[in-house]
Amino acid sequence: MKWTGLNELREKYLQFFESKGHLRLPSFSLVPNGDKSLLLINSGMAPMKKYFTGEVTPPRNRVTTCQKCIRTPDIERVGITARHGTYFEMLGNFSFGDYFKHEATAWAWEFCTKVLELPVERIWVSIYQDDDEAFDIWTKEVGVDPSRIVRLGKEDNFWEHGTGPCGPCSELYFDRGEEYGCGSPTCGVGCDCDRYVEFWNLVFSQFDNDGQGNYTPLEHKNIDTGMGLERLACIMQGVDNLFLVDTVQNIMKHISKIAGVEYGADPKTDISLRVVTDHIRSTTFMIGDGVMPSNEGRGYVLRRLLRRAARHGRLLGIRRPFLAEVCDTVINENQSAYPELVEKRDFIKKLISVEEENFDRTIDQGLQILGALIENSEKKILSGAEAFRLNDTYGFPLDLTKEIIAEKGMTVDESEFQRLLSEQRTRARNARKNAGADAWLSESVDLDGIPATEFTGYATLKDTARILAILRDGERVESAEMNDDVVVVLDRTPFYAESGGQVGDTGFLTDGAGRFAVLDTTKHHSGVFLHHCHVVVEGLSVGSEVECVVDGIRRYNIMRNHTAAHLLQAALRKVLGTHVEQAGQLVDGQRVRFDFTHFSALTKEETARVEEIVNDEILSAVQVTSTEMPIEEAKKLGAMALFGEKYGDIVRVVQAGEFSTEFCGGTHVNNTARLGLFKIISESSVASGVRRIEGVTGRGVLQHMAEDAKTIQDASSALKLNNPAELPEACEHLLSEQKELRRELEKANARLANWQVDGLFDSAEMVKGVKIITGSFSSTTADALRTMSDRVRENAPNSVAVFAAINDGKAVLSATAGKEAQQKGCHAGNIVRAAAKVAGGNGGGKPDFAMAGAKDLTKIDEALAAVNTIVSEMVKE
Ligand code: ALA
Repeated sequence: MKWTGLNELREKYLQFFESKGHLRLPSFSLVPNGDKSLLLINSGMAPMKKYFTGEVTPPRNRVTTCQKCIRTPDIERVGITARHGTYFEMLGNFSFGDYFKHEATAWAWEFCTKVLELPVERIWVSIYQDDDEAFDIWTKEVGVDPSRIVRLGKEDNFWEHGTGPCGPCSELYFDRGEEYGCGSPTCGVGCDCDRYVEFWNLVFSQFDNDGQGNYTPLEHKNIDTGMGLERLACIMQGVDNLFLVDTVQNIMKHISKIAGVEYGADPKTDISLRVVTDHIRSTTFMIGDGVMPSNEGRGYVLRRLLRRAARHGRLLGIRRPFLAEVCDTVINENQSAYPELVEKRDFIKKLISVEEENFDRTIDQGLQILGALIENSEKKILSGAEAFRLNDTYGFPLDLTKEIIAEKGMTVDESEFQRLLSEQRTRARNARKNAGADAWLSESVDLDGIPATEFTGYATLKDTARILAILRDGERVESAEMNDDVVVVLDRTPFYAESGGQVGDTGFLTDGAGRFAVLDTTKHHSGVFLHHCHVVVEGLSVGSEVECVVDGIRRYNIMRNHTAAHLLQAALRKVLGTHVEQAGQLVDGQRVRFDFTHFSALTKEETARVEEIVNDEILSAVQVTSTEMPIEEAKKLGAMALFGEKYGDIVRVVQAGEFSTEFCGGTHVNNTARLGLFKIISESSVASGVRRIEGVTGRGVLQHMAEDAKTIQDASSALKLNNPAELPEACEHLLSEQKELRRELEKANARLANWQVDGLFDSAEMVKGVKIITGSFSSTTADALRTMSDRVRENAPNSVAVFAAINDGKAVLSATAGKEAQQKGCHAGNIVRAAAKVAGGNGGGKPDFAMAGAKDLTKIDEALAAVNTIVSEMVKE
């Protein structure tokens, strides 16, 4: 048995199975593709379920992979023991209806004994208790000593994970030697101690589990095997746990170096070293596969792992963000098998830094508060209210609170925490409901018996319709009077009702005589469109046939902006990457406001590039089409859907040429050229990981240009320039002139201060051999007080000076003590504190100079008068 590195072992395995006719596939992403039963890929077979069930045809019926895996149920144990980890790689060979038990067992044995050269006498085999076939194959065909085969029950030897393919299995164990045993007479394969390590699982996958307890035999029998790469490396490298495996150890060494601690020196720091080592591995790979930190699902797993790692970094005494640095080692150690990590290095590191910095800002405060709570708590329970406040006000996650107090043997009242959380959610929901148009969606509107409104506004902005109902204050009425505000319901309408971030249409309804102005349009959840109207000329009543006219200029502005939102999203994904997803949008007649997932501010270059790409699409006059189609077809087209949105079977897909394809119910121009031009007017942050771009199109760009031109014109006239092109130079000139003047002014002020100080010397008093100077000035800055104090110290080392500056109703006190005065016991910080106290203020500082604020302006003179006594008490005789 020869020491072999982790990367080399991976390669040996894959090559071996290639030599047995297997197709080597790269690891699948950690993010499951179309499998809702899993948050993250947790085994080699998980991403291939559809090959096993026959739903999808595999590229070959023999495949071998080394799969990135994450398992998080034991996250709290990670670090505390050396056995647990969240990230590992699984080697596997798979047969989809091709070979079965005979080959799987024979090749496993050949690989172990011939390639790895594991000593036969140290290998043990377990089989499912009723699997005589496996027993015969192992003993008769492979030639394993029957006494080396152990039969185990369903718990150990029947493999299933979530739904999908599963079956009985056979496992290979390595005997690490008696010294690792527990000494029990029954110790053997399956014992919990460290002697027999299970390292390879051969699953004879022949059932499909539907998750309801039904096991249907699969049409073809399959093979699914899984061998933990790190565990195999432990065996081959003769080490006790995954943290000592070569590549993992190198990551830990990097952390040790930053922290200045040695692994093995102290059980406490060992825990933290293991936590950071494991979590930086899992998070690097997760981000590499496109997971973004968030507060739910996978994103939350990522965030939690990063925060846990950051906190343990602090426990190691690291006082700065460091995870991104360690990430470099993770990437370097893994680049031979995962070259994509190298490609995404900057992205991964940046994201980790941002997340760590954000967390850093909240963690200190939270830790302090939590520390005090633990100290002052007599009980072993932290109240749900405290945990909630930490979470709500300081962003301190509940699981972290739980973990920290568990270290002190405490728990949280979680039911109280959950109650407060749900109360808060309800409050937030109600607040949203009461704001604006949403109020109209409330159940209280009486729409009994009214059918869903037919929307005709994709194709036309003018239509004829019949009034089905008029509502005033939610109640049905027959007609409305002049100046009433009412809601009108029609049988059909060209008015778009607010949804998907596009605002509702405005316009008017008329029958030639009566006229209602439509101020907004919203949709009730029953599908009824609500036209919010102001009665301009009365005369319309239920049953009237009316002409419905949408304000076309406004609607076209809106459509331009909506189409721009689509182009913008596609351009952002091009420039920033495919992690960009729409996180919200508002499209109205003025602008498009687009929120999207991205972790840092856009650079000037990125913004310019995005704008340029959108404008290229506009100038190329690309056709925009909207098509209704079955959702499956839309997915095949690669249409971008809103994350987490539920869609019906038939969806509307809006395409701008080849450039952009999105699920969308909104209204659009039919050609990008109609946008005229697109201009980004702002880029900002909305929440952690969410950016916002605001942009304008068409008329909006013209207006923006006009405003800019006016600003330039105004600035030019203010500076009395004939030619606006001279503006930059004139500004520079002005600023440098201003700088020069300020310097002059400072000089003059200093001279003035000196002059004032010199005057004060005349009225100075002597207290116990120290000269005391006091004075109060208006329109004097704190800086001037400093200059004056400097002068006193320089010229009269035996003096103490206390000055007050009163400015805009605020007062600042300064105190200074010269060298000799200090030697006599005078301390400027203490003097100013005592003086400020007289005027209701506070402050303090160094012995030679200090400042304080004073609140009560009427007491300033009193404060200055007190200086004599203050100094007198301070000076030693
Ligand atoms: N799918 C099997 C496991 O994960 C091989 O153990």
